Amino acid sequence: MVAGMTQSHPRISKAVIPAAGLGTRFLPATKATPKEMLPVVDKPAIQYVVEEAVSAGLDDVLMITGRNKRPLEDHFDRNYELESALGKKGDAERLAKVQESSDLATMHYVRQGDPKGLGHAVLCAAPHVGREPFAVLLGDDLIDPRDPLLQRMIKVQEQHGGSVIALMEVAPEQIHLYGCAAVEATGDTDVVKVTGLVEKPDPADAPSNYAVIGRYVLDPHIFDILRKTEPGRGGEIQLTDALQQLATDEKVGGPVHGVVFKGRRYDTGDRGDYLRAIVRLACEREDLGPDFRTWLRSYVAEEMQQS
Ligand code: UTP
Repeated sequence: MVAGMTQSHPRISKAVIPAAGLGTRFLPATKATPKEMLPVVDKPAIQYVVEEAVSAGLDDVLMITGRNKRPLEDHFDRNYELESALGKKGDAERLAKVQESSDLATMHYVRQGDPKGLGHAVLCAAPHVGREPFAVLLGDDLIDPRDPLLQRMIKVQEQHGGSVIALMEVAPEQIHLYGCAAVEATGDTDVVKVTGLVEKPDPADAPSNYAVIGRYVLDPHIFDILRKTEPGRGGEIQLTDALQQLATDEKVGGPVHGVVFKGRRYDTGDRGDYLRAIVRLACEREDLGPDFRTWLRSYVAEEMQQS
């Protein structure tokens, strides 16, 4: 924390989780079920994200939801019927699992109405957040709990002010799938100054291979910019476009720094990444891992023999 942190540099306490997207990459599973509720081993993806916010010290969580997203609210609420049935059976272990998600954080919800893009989803948080810096965690982006990213981003925000985004180096042919940052080095090896941003560029136009991933610590000036941001790529109001303004005009709430993340991250809205997340996390679980790894090894050996 910076020396003499005062009212002008308040502690970050609020997390915003946009989860109102349509999840079209995962149809038909997401026709009536939010993609954030798909299980990663035995927990819905969204629970990992809320747990991450809480372990970074943010226990005021606002989720941006929409139509078909009711199960998200139910998951973080009490389920008296289930609790009473498990209580009567004396099944303390399962009862604890049911209660874990409802005891996790103070949850708030706001509906986006029309999914007009990530920038628009973040703007829906303005009345709840007020004029404090806040964190944004995308509900379908899973950061491995052993690679704490958000804590580092909060530290960097406390040091430099402004906003901080998470960046990951990707292969040049992958950059068109992400927002991409133009950067300058700083004194810290894992921190860069962001000088420009572009959403899903063609590889030939990409200023770097630094991809923006789903964690942000944002200065509240972002709301003023988002109110004026026109729809951009894909006809959506893009958070990247608003961040581009913060990065290039420091007078309106900049600077923007990037933390370069080298840990494990899964986009659970992408089918391949979703499967990788399940296999990896299942292998590492104390209860399921030993049996699952044994099966996986023999499965891979069989596959190799056949190919
Ligand atoms: P995605 O780009 O993954 O879009 O959104 P999507 O609609 O959820 O999924 P696909 O591409 O159709 O499969 C990135 C994040 O922004 C949220 C999503 O819920 C996800 O966490 N989002 C996106 C919103 O909350 N509202 C929107 O209007 C758009």
